[in-house]
Parts: sequence; C-alpha cells; structure tokens
Amino acid sequence: MSKAKGKKKERFDDDEEQLEKVQEKKLPTSKKGGKKGKRGGGGGDSSDEDVTPKNRDNEDLESIASSNQSKQQSAGKKQAKKAEKKQKESLTRKQEKNKSKQQKQDEDEGPQELLARPKEYIVKFRFPEPSQLQPPILGVHNVTFAFPSQKPLFIKVDFGIDLTSRVAIVGPNGVGKSTFLKLLLGELEPQEGEQRKNHRLHVGRFDQHSGEHLTAEESAAEYLQRLFNLPHEKARKALGSFGLVSHAHTIKMKDLSGGQKARVALAELCLSAPDVLILDEPTNNLDIESIDALAEAINEYEGGVIIVSHDERLIRETGCTLYVIEDQTINEIVGEFDDYRKEVLDSLGEVVNNPSVVANAAVLQ
Ligand SMILES: Nc1ncnc2c1ncn2[C@@H]1O[C@H](COP(=O)(O)OP(=O)(O)OP(=O)(O)O)[C@@H](O)[C@H]1O
Ligand SMILES: [Mg+2]
Repeated sequence: MSKAKGKKKERFDDDEEQLEKVQEKKLPTSKKGGKKGKRGGGGGDSSDEDVTPKNRDNEDLESIASSNQSKQQSAGKKQAKKAEKKQKESLTRKQEKNKSKQQKQDEDEGPQELLARPKEYIVKFRFPEPSQLQPPILGVHNVTFAFPSQKPLFIKVDFGIDLTSRVAIVGPNGVGKSTFLKLLLGELEPQEGEQRKNHRLHVGRFDQHSGEHLTAEESAAEYLQRLFNLPHEKARKALGSFGLVSHAHTIKMKDLSGGQKARVALAELCLSAPDVLILDEPTNNLDIESIDALAEAINEYEGGVIIVSHDERLIRETGCTLYVIEDQTINEIVGEFDDYRKEVLDSLGEVVNNPSVVANAAVLQ
C-alpha cells in the first residue's frame, strides 16, 4: 500500500516539476514581451524629437499621429502588462492549487513510511485484525472425553467463545488443559457430544511444539518468504518484530535454539492472520520483555483469544476472563486472579508469605 502511495506522491512531484518547467519557459517570455512594449513606447518618445517648425500642419498632424501612436503604444504596453500580470496570476493560482492539492495529498497520506532496516531486537508483536464472523464461532457442546483405558478427563462439558472473547484457562498439571484445546480444535474426537466451529473460522495456534516443525535446511527468512510469498525485507521485519536477532534470520532453521524457533513460529502465526488465537503455554521459551510484548499484542488484537498458561504475568497483563479446569469440567472463575490464587492456597492449607512466589507456585499445582 505504501508503495502505491509512494507512486502517487511521485506523480504529484512530477506535476510540480513540469509546472516549474512551464513557468520557467513562460515567465521570461512574458518579461521579454514587457520589455518589448517599453521599447515600443521609447519609439513613440523619439518621434517627438522629430518635430520641426517647417510644416506646422504636418507637425500637428504628425504630433496627433504621434500622440495617437504613442497612445496606441501605451495602450499596447498596458495591454501587454495586463496580459503579463494575468498570466502571472493564473500561474500563481495554478501553483497554489497544485501546492494545496499536494499538501492535502500529504495530509491524507499521513507520514510516509521510512524504509528501515530490520532492527536487532524490537519485540513488538502485532496480530492482523480478524474478519467478521457470526457467533457461535468456536465451542464444544455436551462433550465427554477420555483417553483409551483412562478415566474421563471431561464429562458433559459446554463451552464457547466469540470473536470478542478473552479467555485464560488455568488448572493443575495433567488436568487436561491441552486436551481441552485439542477438543475445541477438533483434533480429538469426543466419545459424546460435538465440537462446533464456524466453517470460515481461521484459527491461529501456538503451543510448546510450535517451533518443532522448523527443522529445515532453509533459513527462517526463506521459510516465511516461501510460505507467505513475501519479499526478503518483509520476512526479516516480521522476524525482527518477534525478537529474533538478525543473524538468526539467515542461518539454517535446524540450527536455531528452541526459543528462536518459538519466535519464528510466532511470526508465522501472526502472518497467517487468524480470527482466533489459541495459545498453549506461549511464554515457555520467551524472556520477560517478549512476554510483555506478547501481552501487548494480544491486547491490541481484536479477535478471540484463548490462552492456556501458568504465567501469571501474561494472564494479568491481558486481563482475560479466568476459567479453571477441574472436576472433569471447565468453570469460569468469578473474581480476579487473586481470588483463584487464594482458593488454590486455601485448598492446600498454605499461607501467603511471598505473594509473587506463592502465586506462581499455586498456579503450578
Ligand atoms: N495422547 C495421549 N494418550 C494418552 N494419555 C494422554 C495423551 N495425552 C495426554 N494424556 C494424558 O491426559 C492427561 C491430560 O493431559 P494434558 O496434556 O491435556 O494436560 P495439561 O493440563 O495440558 O497438562 P500440562 O499443564 O502439563 O500441560 C494427562 O494425564 C496425560 O498424561
Ligand atoms: Mg498442556
């Protein structure tokens, strides 16, 4: 888009250049015309010097003729001046018009995007805006699920989200959080009940294993270029915005660390422009700066969000509605994160000494 704008601007610049050229050509001509007029007037003056006492009548006639001539000449001079003025005015008006047109164009376009080289470590995520879909967009109805020869993880569960939902799912390890997401996504078949999903819904998904498919000989920049048909700089910009250091953009993906692969996977997720984000433990390989950036991106993103996380920082920063998986179902927690923390601690019979340490310990139960 900025390219198109750039082109538009160029065209206007060309117009102005052309106008200047026309002006250069026209203005000197009109000035010359003015001088010519003056010279003509000078000719009139010199005819006055030709008056001799020899023939008064002739002189009178000549003087009348001369005065007429000089009148005509001065009228001509005036006309030339007028024309010159008019031309100048019209050019000035035209210039002004083009100038204000250009100004308006600049205002409409806003500041032009500068061509910046990818920075070393920006950490600023931005998920594209989702399309409009009618609810219900994603959910499960009356779902019962158990892995073979295990006791059921879920019994008759109902749950659904729309494009404005912000949900954080918490619960002890092994309670079935990841399994619940798989049921929502239709990756697992329930024994009873059904998954419901708008057929046009595009889900963006990120989990602990999201970077694992990135084992290729190609670099992260080449991978994104190929996947999304991007120019090299755009692919690198996306990687940079997810905190991937620039030397890691061009080395083989199989040589990237787990954390670096996670960043490539987040860049890939963002470029895929999802309607709903489903994030399972997204902060596992991220540093604090990146967690804050992810929280900010989630807050700016306008689609539905489901996060499964033990990360109190991410849950607090995104202001999600808390749901807990327990007793083979999922329930909304009435109250804030602190209420849930207190509930868990109470159930464990523990006392809060260091709130931040105990909070994480509580959620990790
Ligand atoms: N493919 C599978 N086959 C059999 N059992 C499984 C399978 N996947 C998970 N389980 C079991 O189902 C239970 C729920 O697992 P799940 O991964 O959903 O838990 P979780 O809440 O996501 O745990 P965590 O907090 O560790 O990520 C666990 O007891 C796990 O061992
Ligand atoms: Mg899990």
